[in-house]
Amino acid sequence: MNPFPHVAVLATETTEIFSPGLSGAILDGTGGAGDHIALITARSSEQLTAVVFDRDPEALAHLKVRLASLGDRLILVHANFADFPEILAEHGIEKLSGAILDLGISSNHLRPDRGFSYREEGPLDMRMDFSQGDTARELIQRASAEELTHILEMYGEVRHGEGLARAMKQTVRGGGLQTTTDLVDLIRLESPSVGAKFMSRVFQSLRIAVNGELQNLERFLDAIPAYLAPGGRLAIISFHSLEDRLVKHTFKGWAREGIVRLGTKKPIVPTYEEVCANKRSRSARLRWVEKEG
Ligand SMILES: C[S@@+](CC[C@H](N)C(=O)[O-])C[C@H]1O[C@@H](n2cnc3c(N)ncnc32)[C@H](O)[C@@H]1O
Repeated sequence: MNPFPHVAVLATETTEIFSPGLSGAILDGTGGAGDHIALITARSSEQLTAVVFDRDPEALAHLKVRLASLGDRLILVHANFADFPEILAEHGIEKLSGAILDLGISSNHLRPDRGFSYREEGPLDMRMDFSQGDTARELIQRASAEELTHILEMYGEVRHGEGLARAMKQTVRGGGLQTTTDLVDLIRLESPSVGAKFMSRVFQSLRIAVNGELQNLERFLDAIPAYLAPGGRLAIISFHSLEDRLVKHTFKGWAREGIVRLGTKKPIVPTYEEVCANKRSRSARLRWVEKEG
């Protein structure tokens, strides 16, 4: 059995952004199963140091084994990629010859006990880093009905989320919503005719809020230009429109200011064959930039 079930998306397209023989330091903010960084380092120079982040303790344990052959060229960190400046400073790294983010969750997160999936019963958790922070249930408890409505509408593009938000608050107050199945049952009760797409949007919105996903991406994007060496490349794969929009507008803004050159005008998307082989890849959008000299 694969100990860490995840298939990297746009693997060749992402790897080829980074030139063979790359040296210096590359940052992988979302190590996951380690496929992208393993492919990049396999064709890089022996002088390339890989600084690999993951918030998920399970991913980190897997990465330690998967990337062991890098030896002391590997710096593995259990941290949020948004905090990368402090980590680089701790290791005396001032400039990066490359950086990559492959956003969102890995297939490992879809295991029932992590509480991300509406398809199987598990605790209503959804934390990528289960060692800290509020679970999805605690978030529902803590947020006001207005905040929850905003989360559903903004991050899940759920229309008229206030009814569901109020019902969620009321159910949590009564001690309910302990599991993913409890949430699915509540959604069905509130909106009997909705299908899988709606379920997935509600779950996605809570996941984004629980993990502060957009805020982390914003913090990363604010800081990264100053750390890219001239000619250094940054590649970002996003899986939903909010993230992709943020990446697109930020990259375009940098290009207008002469900070970077855009790698491609349009995002790189998976081939038909990749989507057939890995359904999860269907919403992937890859954009990249190169720091001007
Ligand atoms: C889509 S997977 C990455 C897969 C990886 N590129 C590969 O080739 O296997 C995303 C990973 O990033 C991690 N992650 C997401 N947001 C993060 C953040 N803000 N900081 C650190 N890790 C994060 C998740 O825990 C997950 O393991």
